[in-house]
Amino acid sequence: MTLEQAIENRTAQVAVVGLGYVGLPLAARTAEVGLRTRGVDINRGRVANINLGISDISDVASEVLAPLVASGLLSAHDDFAVINESDAIIICVPTPLNKTRDPDIGFIMSAAEQIAPHMKAGQIFVLESTTYPGFTREVLAPMLEQASGLTAGVDFHVAFSPERIDPGNATYGVRNTTKIVGALSEAGGQCVRALYSAFIDQVQVVSSPDCAEMVKLLENTFRAVNIGLVNELALMCHKLGLSVWEVIDAAATKPFGYMPFYPGPGLGGHCIPIDPLYLSWKLRSLNYQARFIELADTINTDMPTHVVRLVQDALNDRGKAVRGSRILVLGVAYKRDIDDYRESPAITVIDQIAEKGAVVDYYDPHVPHYFEEGTRHEGIADLSDLESYDLGVIITDHRAFDYADICRRLPVVVDTRNATRDVRAGQDHIYLL
Ligand SMILES: NC(=O)c1ccc[n+]([C@@H]2O[C@H](COP(=O)([O-])OP(=O)(O)OC[C@H]3O[C@@H](n4cnc5c(N)ncnc54)[C@H](O)[C@@H]3O)[C@@H](O)[C@H]2O)c1
Repeated sequence: MTLEQAIENRTAQVAVVGLGYVGLPLAARTAEVGLRTRGVDINRGRVANINLGISDISDVASEVLAPLVASGLLSAHDDFAVINESDAIIICVPTPLNKTRDPDIGFIMSAAEQIAPHMKAGQIFVLESTTYPGFTREVLAPMLEQASGLTAGVDFHVAFSPERIDPGNATYGVRNTTKIVGALSEAGGQCVRALYSAFIDQVQVVSSPDCAEMVKLLENTFRAVNIGLVNELALMCHKLGLSVWEVIDAAATKPFGYMPFYPGPGLGGHCIPIDPLYLSWKLRSLNYQARFIELADTINTDMPTHVVRLVQDALNDRGKAVRGSRILVLGVAYKRDIDDYRESPAITVIDQIAEKGAVVDYYDPHVPHYFEEGTRHEGIADLSDLESYDLGVIITDHRAFDYADICRRLPVVVDTRNATRDVRAGQDHIYLL
């Protein structure tokens, strides 16, 4: 039986390596369509929870996970032995930046090292972790070949397929977001197409893994650069005494040739602030400077400092200093209605304000506590003590916040998201980005 047939009649087994924001929704989806799925993760707590039917990833409800686990279609493992009995292996481990803001591909390398001893001929390997163009072909495939003694493109297939998930997006998820696939060989492309077609509506095969890697980087660079542009527009509007929000809303009435992007306190999350730097790093090695990416990164990275300046100015207008003031940060998640605070600008804002001597608390109904370099930071439990603060700064525009109440009870509000646009009373003490 060919792999395509085994996928078609649901006798193929899928292994998903890395069960985080990307891997767990994917594993749930493959199991949902009847493919026996084995998740592998080095986080033992996460593995144990998944096997109890408990999800800590907001895009996968425990009510969805539990029956998949109970039926035996999905299970989680902290060792890699299940790779040997799997037909398709999808790798979804983190690809962060290191301390010098260069790509850290250590998680992929370590996953590949642990996978290799369990490889056998006929398997397909798909990397979904974001990486730079060339990585799958130049680094991953040779490494798997060397460790297994098998030949990529002949004994096993290797492909790159970017994850395009938008956490918290209720309209577009794994099923209805077109999957891009780039394999080392045409036959590999067809195999991986068959795999993803089992649970995703549209699959588009491109000519190479390098092209698929670049597709992902284009998408995220497009966002990073456009956000950098509107963030700079916000700085310009600030100097000109204009509301950038009003300007953008008016420009967005144009039905063609314009797409609104919105400014904010800085980029966050696992993708937009990081992925473009994988591309600029790769280009630097080719003696080319990715100017748009670097400029956007400079502007976006500086936004938290601009927010702190707004806080300083707002207090100054009331004859107060940052030092000694009680400041409440509203929202630490990097975007609305989610619990992910990775790379969140809120954390930089909190640190910078605290460095200036303020007493800083935060409140986020989605993030009751967060860790920064191993230190646990606890949010306040509720907003019952709102009147005790000198200023509140809205970093995340969660829908759960009652903005009218917040603006009524706080003497000064710095709003970095235009979340208070519908608040009528007390406009004089709201400072918009
Ligand atoms: N989160 C997103 O919105 C998103 C969207 C698109 C693409 N991506 C990309 O997908 C990849 C994964 O991101 P994520 O957000 O799911 O990360 P995550 O941190 O939520 O999950 C990664 C998981 O991999 C596990 N892991 C780490 N090393 C491992 C190893 N050697 N073997 C097995 N498991 C290991 C971790 O324990 C963790 O559970 C990254 O490359 C990211 O850039 C993320």
